[in-house]
Amino acid sequence: MADTLTITDNRTGKQYEVPVTDNTIRAMDLRQIKVNPSDFGLMTYDPAFLNTASCQSAITFIDGGKGILRYRGYPIEQLAEHGTFVETAYLLLDGELPNDAQLATWKHDLSDHVMLHENIKKFMEGFRYDAHPMGIFLSTVGALSTFYPMAKDVDDQPSRRRQSLRLISKVPSIAAYAYRHHVGKPYVYPDSELSYAGNFLNQLFKRTEPVYRPDPVLERALDVLFILHADHEQNCSTSAMRGIGSSNADPYASMAGAAAALYGPLHGGANEAVLRMLNDIGSLDKVPAFVKSVKAGEGRLMGFGHRVYKSYDPRATVIKRTANEVFEVTGRNPLLDIALELERIALQDEYFVSRKLYPNVDFYSGLIYEAMGFDPAMFPVLFAIGRTAGWVAQWEELMTDKTRKIARPRQVYIGEDSRDYVPLSDRS
Ligand code: CMC
Repeated sequence: MADTLTITDNRTGKQYEVPVTDNTIRAMDLRQIKVNPSDFGLMTYDPAFLNTASCQSAITFIDGGKGILRYRGYPIEQLAEHGTFVETAYLLLDGELPNDAQLATWKHDLSDHVMLHENIKKFMEGFRYDAHPMGIFLSTVGALSTFYPMAKDVDDQPSRRRQSLRLISKVPSIAAYAYRHHVGKPYVYPDSELSYAGNFLNQLFKRTEPVYRPDPVLERALDVLFILHADHEQNCSTSAMRGIGSSNADPYASMAGAAAALYGPLHGGANEAVLRMLNDIGSLDKVPAFVKSVKAGEGRLMGFGHRVYKSYDPRATVIKRTANEVFEVTGRNPLLDIALELERIALQDEYFVSRKLYPNVDFYSGLIYEAMGFDPAMFPVLFAIGRTAGWVAQWEELMTDKTRKIARPRQVYIGEDSRDYVPLSDRS
């Protein structure tokens, strides 16, 4: 039997055969469904893209019902246990894990691009002392566009590769500078003897010691968090990256837009919002009243729920384990008890169970970040460092997609019909 969908238009009595490929129909195939020849043709209406695939991608696979997440086929649990962020970034971009020689070259190339232009530092000094680090981060990523005009040649593969390397390599420095600016401390230059995560900790927390030595448990935990956040298929910020990139804007401009999308509390800003929520709740005895207020529609249980996962977010499972390892070093975060109690109540409450609301990646990550000494305002920036690998990989995939066109959704117009201009003197 042919893999087609038969649609009967009850307005005309006509039947249409629409091919089904990869469990999807092409929205453009619906255009043939018309009442008369001058009719535009049938469109689909899908606000917030609840049921629309906007691209084909070979990077990340998610089965939200089963709680599966894989990068290029590799389960996230295995990458988090055995891999490093640097090789994960290579995997996302190139499709395969690097061999010894490829990894050595990749690390060398990354360290080649790690420095920021001194003018970037001056640019960042212009922000007010209390500027949110994520605002600084996304503006600075956008400003990089003016430093690398060659990036505009988005059809040049070697140039694209260089810009992707620059972005993955430079974002920790941008994030660290944003943080040091926020707390009024001098900037720290990168140390290429350290790992990606270890150097980031150095750039954040180095004081007067001649050489900074990161705690290996915290260094590994941060690396795991970067791996877990590295990609998540067509989420809000990645769609922004692809949407902006589709106009052939350079990757810095595109990534500034992606970072802006990530900033929001429903996306990458959720980790910061979770910590503020836990602080607002304050003590265990206030948890039931808080849950009641969420159920009454007075706010959301931040760090719960996901558009795709309708069971436990696999990243949350890894993060919970990582949290315990970090707390062995830093001491237990007192807010953990409130988080555990919220999770315990929510997982058995009809409101959350019936809506399939489970802890997501951001429910526990903030507790780890805080225990490691990060200000909550830095949490979305930490998310952005990991996600940079995914953004550039998705952008590269878009640029090599032969079907690429500028992203341009349609709309259903619900405004006024044509009417004549009313002079100002005649308006009531
Ligand atoms: N607390 C309370 N109720 C919720 C929550 C929540 N966190 N999330 C969803 N709901 C309810 C929502 O009110 C709705 O109920 P009803 O059917 O009665 O109107 C139902 O569940 C479905 O919610 P939705 O808003 O239609 O779901 P969505 O798929 O559009 O939104 C979400 C997904 C992640 C934006 C949402 O679950 C949310 O706001 N969660 C809190 C913010 C958060 O933790 N975001 C981080 C997501 S993971 C990191 C990332 O990748 O961005």
